[in-house]
Amino acid sequence: MGNDDYAWAGRVADKIYEKMKMSVMRNRDKIPYLAADGIFDDWSDRISWWTNGFYGGQLWQLYHAYGDGIFRQAAKNIEDKLDQGLADYMGMDHDSGFKWLLTAVANYKKTGSARSKNRALLAAANLVGRFNLAGRFIRAWNDKGNGDTAGWAIIDCMMNLPLLYWAGQETNDPRFTQIAKAHADTAVKAFIRENGSASHIVQFDVDTGKIKGTLGGQGMETGSSWTRGQAWAVYGFALSYRHTRIEKYLETAKKAAVYFESCIPGNGIIPVDFCQDKELGWEDSSAAAIAACGMLEIETHVTEEEKGFFHKTAMKLLKTLEENRSNWDTDVDYIIENCSVAYHDDKHNFPMVYGDYYFTEAVFKLCGKELFLW
Ligand code: GLY
Repeated sequence: MGNDDYAWAGRVADKIYEKMKMSVMRNRDKIPYLAADGIFDDWSDRISWWTNGFYGGQLWQLYHAYGDGIFRQAAKNIEDKLDQGLADYMGMDHDSGFKWLLTAVANYKKTGSARSKNRALLAAANLVGRFNLAGRFIRAWNDKGNGDTAGWAIIDCMMNLPLLYWAGQETNDPRFTQIAKAHADTAVKAFIRENGSASHIVQFDVDTGKIKGTLGGQGMETGSSWTRGQAWAVYGFALSYRHTRIEKYLETAKKAAVYFESCIPGNGIIPVDFCQDKELGWEDSSAAAIAACGMLEIETHVTEEEKGFFHKTAMKLLKTLEENRSNWDTDVDYIIENCSVAYHDDKHNFPMVYGDYYFTEAVFKLCGKELFLW
């Protein structure tokens, strides 16, 4: 990495710190997800929501890098609140990694808390319980009343497998890793298309395990390219390689990353779906931040000749976000602007807490301040 990028990241990390020092004072009793008029909302009363670990994760990153106790205390508050979700079977789904790696595992890594380790192991045990043996996949969401989702798996789940790799290592029990690898093996074949683009949802027959079809999910349509899903593929497969050293996961991560790079518009702004009409102007900055984290992870595993491509792509995404899609006003809670949950939603281009989380993680990676949590 060039000294310029290291220095740039150091400056941006300090700006994140200046913002978060103020944000945590205002939001230490909340679990933020979205923001209106610069003020974070609070999801403490919707405790099973999948994004409820990200603010805690960002606070642990800040605590690790800058040491202010208030970051740690506020992160612990969130972790305590999540216990209610851990006890609610129907509230638990494939997203336990997002929730407990960034809270309980972070706490355990920083403080050695036995309580935190126990929480994360319970979450991992629940996650392996979602494995469908016939199709060799981890089931995504629970039924919404009509029993139609038992055979659904989603690309996002690749990001939750690190909870299982962690649990396998902590307990010295190979079951966790075996199931993570089985899901990743299925995902290589079922989700990644010939050109490197990823499906969001794959539907399996729950009894035979045969693939019934794919769905566009949060993207535009079946066969299109939802950008955040593509970013989950880039980072998720790279992380599975990091934990297993299985070459096909790295090859899949690279293929997904090369596709992502080939679709980045000249201005570096990432749309909600790479196939959408260019005139729409619907963006997803969170996809840019997640993909940047994935590119930086891949960079650490490839040859000297290959590194430049992934590093340059990450820098383009991150510098575009910093210059064009960041709010540095310390009275405003969020940092990253213009994210979108899904193509077919009524609203687009607003701040979401995980845009901030992944931007922070990527910047901290670049300047050596990161607490590695995946
Ligand atoms: N994991 C859900 C999403 O990316 O929106």
